[in-house]
Amino acid sequence: MISTSDRAGNSPSNLRFIQTERPLVDETLEVLASLSEELPRLSPKYFYDSRGSELFEEITVLPEYYLTRSEAEIFDRHLDDIAQALGSGDIIIEPGSGNCSKVRPLLKRAAPSAYIPIDIAGEFLWAAAANTALEHPNLGVTAIAADFTQRWTFLEEIPKGRRIVFYPGSTLGNFDPSAQQDFIRQLAQVVGTQGGILLGVDLHKDSATLQRAYDDAAGVTAAFNRNMLAVVNARTGANFEPKEWRHQARYNSEMRRIEMELVAQSMQTVTIGGQTLKFSEGAIIRTEHSHKFTMASIQDLAAAAAMTVTHHWLDSNARFCLALLQNA
Ligand code: AVJ
Repeated sequence: MISTSDRAGNSPSNLRFIQTERPLVDETLEVLASLSEELPRLSPKYFYDSRGSELFEEITVLPEYYLTRSEAEIFDRHLDDIAQALGSGDIIIEPGSGNCSKVRPLLKRAAPSAYIPIDIAGEFLWAAAANTALEHPNLGVTAIAADFTQRWTFLEEIPKGRRIVFYPGSTLGNFDPSAQQDFIRQLAQVVGTQGGILLGVDLHKDSATLQRAYDDAAGVTAAFNRNMLAVVNARTGANFEPKEWRHQARYNSEMRRIEMELVAQSMQTVTIGGQTLKFSEGAIIRTEHSHKFTMASIQDLAAAAAMTVTHHWLDSNARFCLALLQNA
């Protein structure tokens, strides 16, 4: 395995690594603004430094966190079908690729011509992409370190051909519904009339199962949540004390979303960009909404981007859905 520390010497010849200029937005101002809202919040993108990406990987193997396993089971059970629906020679683009593990069955079975992982955690991305490139010597891998929630300034780096955006893991659920629509519309543009979006999303279900998945007994999700404050400190020079904040996750079944928060355990004074923010004991910072979907809501999303759900696959417990969206 290639690790991030190997980067100097060891780049596979079929890997291109593109580091976009960052930050495109002034993160200090962004953080200050979102923390100053009536309901203070931080963007979930601040979960993912290298440590956060590692913690998320740990989450994916927790007994309570069924999402990753359910999605993997869909690939296990339906891989032939999925590969057939996609066709061969496609260019697979994966925003938020993390450790590049979810795409593995597709790379093996669907034989794409190129793979374009995009992730905000640059060092982690490089290592994951390098391992993928080594494993598939005939596959062109173009890894793009970028904040995919911002404008895609790197479009010209993506090879031409039939494009499939692979957006698994229910990452879409981090956007609020109107932003989900905007993002799917943007992806529809990226893939053009011939392409498609292979979307993996978690389904609405009983609150207990969902809450357990986001508040595990081992406390990994709690550590992941608190790590966001360390990331914000590193990126903006803030001085949050992560230990003074408690993890909280609840399912809002009306809004169909997990609401993940950090709760101040005592009065907190935080300085960011020369400004001082005070949080009283019990003050809440929202760190993530994780929306859950229904078949109807997936179809509505597709329709909003003038696409249709041409195929969909479920795991054996019908917890998770993989849907292929194509032009209507
Ligand atoms: C990576 C956004 C899909 O919402 O389930 C896991 C992140 N947060 N546990 C999710 C997450 C808490 C995850 N996504």
